[in-house]
Amino acid sequence: MASIELRNLCKQFGNTIVLRDISFTVREDEFVVLVGPSGCGKSTILRSIAGLETPTSGEIWIGGKNITDVHPRDRDIAMVFQSYALYPHLSVYDNMAFGLRMRKVDEAEIDRRVKEAAVFFELSELLKRKPKELSGGQRQRVALGRAVVRHPSAFLFDEPLSNLDAKLRAHTRTEISRLHKRLKTAMVYVTHDQIEAMTLGERIVVLKDGVIQQIDTPLNVYRKPANKFVAGFIGSPAMNFVQGVRDGAAFRAGTIQFPLPHKLAQCPEKLTLGLRPEQLSVGTSANGRAAFDLAVDVVEPIGNELLVYGHVGEQELVIRCDPGTDARPDARLPISFDPASVHYFDAASEASLARD
Ligand SMILES: Nc1ncnc2c1ncn2[C@@H]1O[C@H](COP(=O)(O)OP(=O)(O)O)[C@@H](O)[C@H]1O
Ligand SMILES: [Mg+2]
Repeated sequence: MASIELRNLCKQFGNTIVLRDISFTVREDEFVVLVGPSGCGKSTILRSIAGLETPTSGEIWIGGKNITDVHPRDRDIAMVFQSYALYPHLSVYDNMAFGLRMRKVDEAEIDRRVKEAAVFFELSELLKRKPKELSGGQRQRVALGRAVVRHPSAFLFDEPLSNLDAKLRAHTRTEISRLHKRLKTAMVYVTHDQIEAMTLGERIVVLKDGVIQQIDTPLNVYRKPANKFVAGFIGSPAMNFVQGVRDGAAFRAGTIQFPLPHKLAQCPEKLTLGLRPEQLSVGTSANGRAAFDLAVDVVEPIGNELLVYGHVGEQELVIRCDPGTDARPDARLPISFDPASVHYFDAASEASLARD
């Protein structure tokens, strides 16, 4: 087991800067998820940790040693890719044993480790098959098994579930969680999927354009996003944003007007209001709540909840409500929210205001 530490990592491909000053630590038993849109530099960070990419500047430390210039083979890290990367001509057993044979591990020990991993990943009946005789989910479990048998001091996962259908994705996600609970090894997991990030990560690193936006627990990232990007990226349906102004001590955006919470009395004049779909409730306002009327456009019954899409003037909003709510297209719904518990951003810098 070993911790992973990135110190001021920068990476340039030609003139293109892909990573800017990336610093974070993964404790030796921690599960950290790197999340961000496609192209933000997630794979480049992972490949740098594995040694498949050379940083332009900065250092990588594993288990308290600077390994920035150490050959990938000598880093004692296992990486699992989206594309499984199995040897097509080898059986499941031989694919899992391959790395250990290269390292001249004793055959009896190899057999023990492969069979143990096969039990964990439900592959015991499939050990003689070739990759082409497996489903996508089974192939990815072989790739996971092959990483596990090495007993590495850290694991790296690059979008390992992206090629699986939704049900298998949820199942394999749970298996990866179980694996971490059992091994308690440092794991860095890359995904563009915020649900995977929220469900797997003990901490989440949110990236945009090669810059870290926030590092925190899933709940803190959700409840106290550092800026508008994080607020909009984490959460589904995404947070509603309303551009408005501070007029004295009040917020104004068309018909949405209310007294600002006291802590925002001195905030910038151009404000973005952030409303999560579940922070808006149907019904007229009571003490201190702000209210407006929503013109309903589309209603989506999901079973356990109802999503109502509508607009206020030009502003489009989505609201998550009780499945029994009487909302119909073209109706007007009275909506209210608590100004003290919603989000506010500086419209210019997009930084969160009044995070406590
Ligand atoms: N070998 C390369 N040469 C040039 N540009 C690259 C190379 N690898 C990645 N990039 C660029 O670096 C950026 C980040 O890529 P990547 O780390 O793969 O992003 P992510 O995994 O978040 O989708 C992208 O703009 C990509 O086009
Ligand atoms: Mg990638």
